[in-house]
Amino acid sequence: MIDNYGINIWADDNFIIKNNTINVNYKSQPSLLEITKQIRNDGYKGPLLLRFPHLIKKQISTLYNEFNRAKKEFDYTGRFQAVFPLKVNQFPNFISALMEVSKEFNYGLEAGSKAELLIAITHTPIGAPITVNGFKDKEMISLCFIAANMGHNITITIEGLGELETIIEVNNEFNKENKTAIIPKIGVRIRLHSSGIGVWAKSGGYSSKFGLSSTELLDAYDLIKKHNLLKQLWMIHFHIGSQMSEIAPLKKALREAGNIYADLKNRGATALNAVNIGGGLAIEYAQHEENKELNYSLKEFSNDVVFVMKEISKNKGIKEPDIFTESGRFIAASHAVLIAPVLELFSQDYHEKSLRLKKENPPLIRELNELWTSLNYTNAREYLHDALDHMESLLTLFDLGYIDLEDRSNTEILVNLIIKKSILLLDNNSSNELKKLQNKIQERYLLNFSIFQSLPDFWGLEQHFPMMPIDKLNIKANNPATIWDITCDSDGEITFNNHAPLYLHNVDVSKDEYFLAFFLTGAYQEVLGMKHNLFTHPTEVIIKFDKEGHYAIDELIESQNIMDVLDEMNYDKIHLNKKLKSLIGTSRLMNKKEKNKLQNKLDFYLSENSYLKTVLTNSY
Ligand SMILES: Cc1ncc(COP(=O)(O)O)c(C=O)c1O
Repeated sequence: MIDNYGINIWADDNFIIKNNTINVNYKSQPSLLEITKQIRNDGYKGPLLLRFPHLIKKQISTLYNEFNRAKKEFDYTGRFQAVFPLKVNQFPNFISALMEVSKEFNYGLEAGSKAELLIAITHTPIGAPITVNGFKDKEMISLCFIAANMGHNITITIEGLGELETIIEVNNEFNKENKTAIIPKIGVRIRLHSSGIGVWAKSGGYSSKFGLSSTELLDAYDLIKKHNLLKQLWMIHFHIGSQMSEIAPLKKALREAGNIYADLKNRGATALNAVNIGGGLAIEYAQHEENKELNYSLKEFSNDVVFVMKEISKNKGIKEPDIFTESGRFIAASHAVLIAPVLELFSQDYHEKSLRLKKENPPLIRELNELWTSLNYTNAREYLHDALDHMESLLTLFDLGYIDLEDRSNTEILVNLIIKKSILLLDNNSSNELKKLQNKIQERYLLNFSIFQSLPDFWGLEQHFPMMPIDKLNIKANNPATIWDITCDSDGEITFNNHAPLYLHNVDVSKDEYFLAFFLTGAYQEVLGMKHNLFTHPTEVIIKFDKEGHYAIDELIESQNIMDVLDEMNYDKIHLNKKLKSLIGTSRLMNKKEKNKLQNKLDFYLSENSYLKTVLTNSY
């Protein structure tokens, strides 16, 4: 059967396979191959990051629609509001697309640092919510006061009692200067017993880094009351961890938070009117049914949030709170697709044409060759076992000095060919034995990208990202594949995994371009990406569709050139250029004309981005 790379599991109908390519399932449905080729024809080589704003819009409207549906279903009176947590993706091309497509939703931003706060202040429409989480100093709190006095609807989330004391101090200072100064709204982050599930679960739970314990919460309440700030206290907040794969921890957290909300409200926090459930809404990254990560849908998630809040409000006789979310991964992940060109395949030597059979071969090699030439469906399993047995004997013969390097090479090639063909004849998944053998015949695909830069969560946490070739999808791919990136680090590798096998095509990249796409890379990957080996962010573009449905490539930002990369590392660009010039100028090995030529060549190379252009005879 031809592989569909689990598109029915992870793609959410955003992409479809059409004939032999994977296409964007929107308007004119362009293939990723034609988009890639168009960008490359303009001279932009190396990895590409394609952004699709229509997919950001789809996620935002799905989130709002589902919560509004749930509100209607349960006759819920509180509002639903959402902000985008900037930590998930702060890149300007993403943020401007996000703000553009979310205009109708009163959608806001969440900030966790001073720089993020500045993005939020300058990009959130006046009136749309801004929430400010994380540790804060006096300056950051003052920035929140400045934003409030610009007219922003801003909430400072208190993460600890010290922050509350600073808010009181800043408020007094602002009040001294201006009696009518606006005070930002106040939220409190609560430290729940409940935590999420999975690798990102430690954001929640009793030992989490953030939030106030019950005792601290009561102290905070007293302090807020004492300083006459109760009218500002309007939100309680929690976050139980990202990529929450199961729904049960959320239900527990909602009950805990809902009861804290009701208690504070009944205690006298009358302005309290919102419960912020943070992020955590997960997406499906799996490509194989057995590896699915999620046990709930957005419908179930929204129903649970609305239902629990409704129930607690009814039981405690309070107004139903506004529900806030800070979903990041759910909003951003699907919008970005990384395309990486394959530079080389690293087992081409296991090809029949590489055999160096002699006139007279050792008997076991002769037999191996006969097994290979007469292999068919009926004898495949038996011949495979014979070949593996012969290989062991031949390797021992080599170690004992009875056969030479050519014989050894012939052994490796013939056994590899026999394993490959047997697996093909007997079908990949027919037995554990064959599955294990796939590791022996893996093909290594060298890709023009850096895993450290573009998939850091794979490197750090083994988070799987859906990956597949972008064409030849009408041809069955048989090569169990390992991915190598171009960094000088053996961790820059996605090894073939029997539990999530990736099969790629047998291609001759000197004749035929071959690209892999990595999906769902729009959340966290870009900013967590490291410049290991000084490989930087890939060339990025925005793909927009017009009313007629045609796509256009917009807002292209090329990957940094070599000099700019060094400049960012605080090398003095002017000094480096001077040094290079003087090294050429003082060289005794060239005449003036040759020096000029060399200088021009060097200037050209330094203006290019730092990914590979040519490997062997190919141009990438
Ligand atoms: C406070 C807070 N809100 C929201 C988020 C976003 O979470 P997610 O991307 O899982 O939606 C995070 C992420 O860790 C967070 O710490």
